[in-house]
Amino acid sequence: MKILIVGNGGRESAIALKLKDDSRISKMYFAKGNATTSKLGQNVYEDSVVGLRDFAIKERIDLTIVGPEAPLVDGIVDEFKKHDLKIFGPRKRTAELEGSKAFSKKFMQTNNIKTAKAVVFDAYQDAIDYVRQQKFPIVIKASGLAGGKGVVIADNLTDAESTIHQFMIERIYGDAGIQLVIEDYLKGFEASIIAFSNGKNLYPCIPVKDYKKAGNGDTGPNTGGMGSVAPSPEFTDEHYRDFEANILKPTLAGLNASNIHFKGFIFFGLMVTNDGTFLLEYNMRMGDPETQVILPLMENQLYDVIMDCLEGKEINLKFKDEKAVCLVMCSGGYPWKIETGFEVKNLDKVKDSQVLFAGAKTAGDRILTTGGRVLSLVATGNSYDEARRKVYEDAKTIHFDYEFYREDIGKF
Ligand code: AMP
Ligand code: GLY
Repeated sequence: MKILIVGNGGRESAIALKLKDDSRISKMYFAKGNATTSKLGQNVYEDSVVGLRDFAIKERIDLTIVGPEAPLVDGIVDEFKKHDLKIFGPRKRTAELEGSKAFSKKFMQTNNIKTAKAVVFDAYQDAIDYVRQQKFPIVIKASGLAGGKGVVIADNLTDAESTIHQFMIERIYGDAGIQLVIEDYLKGFEASIIAFSNGKNLYPCIPVKDYKKAGNGDTGPNTGGMGSVAPSPEFTDEHYRDFEANILKPTLAGLNASNIHFKGFIFFGLMVTNDGTFLLEYNMRMGDPETQVILPLMENQLYDVIMDCLEGKEINLKFKDEKAVCLVMCSGGYPWKIETGFEVKNLDKVKDSQVLFAGAKTAGDRILTTGGRVLSLVATGNSYDEARRKVYEDAKTIHFDYEFYREDIGKF
């Protein structure tokens, strides 16, 4: 079997590591890959839908797994299916559940899925008139994909008005800001649940805690994720039952009612408040850095689970009764302006963690930083403390110029 994995982050490195010992897989290709994937297979410098399709045809790829959202929203699954290429992920229309917050909010509202009260706006003046009547803070979201930057929590009317102006008139995120979703602010803690879909049913993995803020104690700017822990210690069985009844089941019913039978991942971004568990968003892919802690605890062979889903078979997910901690090591300046090109040193001294590269490439026998989130360190243990100790000891050993990471991942 030849497998193509689309993407180049820590998530794709985790998928590759999970698949690497499966004897059925003869070769893995990664588009565009990174310093981890170049060791496990072949990196391919191609990222257009058409280019990937041609590559899959030429190399006779047996299965393609898509990591990030952009190719899904660009229709990679539709294009591959047209050519009878096996691919795991939703079609373009279904990927709109992530690609358009207006579409997903309407889907949630139509299907009685527990979510914050929200209104969708196409016209600037209507949005301004609306926020003038609201309480603060209020949440303003660009509807389209904006690289995780299109959500602003406005504390007062001035901030709300200037955000609406930036999104709709200045178009700081281009067409993503043509439509806005303005929704009530929810106070609580967040959790991520990723489920596999076999086209008929949804099979959730263990809940994950993702650390989104750059600084210790959840301070500083939002990032793509500074670390993660599985299972989330905060998300109780009671929260799960609430999620199942008010989010998971109505989502499945809504998909069926809309005649959507996709085979791929669906990610529920949740906010747990004193009034229960609310759905903030869907992503139609695995999360980063959620994947890094889910896969080491998953007992199933990932390849089997994906193939069974593609064939519409029932699956039975099993997870180890252990804890996993992922710590992301970043380049100085992230998530703003970063400098790259520094050598990652002392990798041979890493003891107990998996090193999953993201923003790093191989250059001869050296590894150089290329992005903000350089690598994830992942370890498992019988307690959060045990897993945490392992990743932090290895983080102290690894070195690259201007490195930084949070000190409090997995500390409870
Ligand atoms: P989203 O892309 O919709 O998940 O939003 C990105 C982040 O913004 C979330 O992970 C939350 O931290 C925050 N957020 C989104 N919606 C709300 C809300 N209604 N109340 C509070 N925070 C929110
Ligand atoms: N960790 C959140 C995401 O992947 O979107």
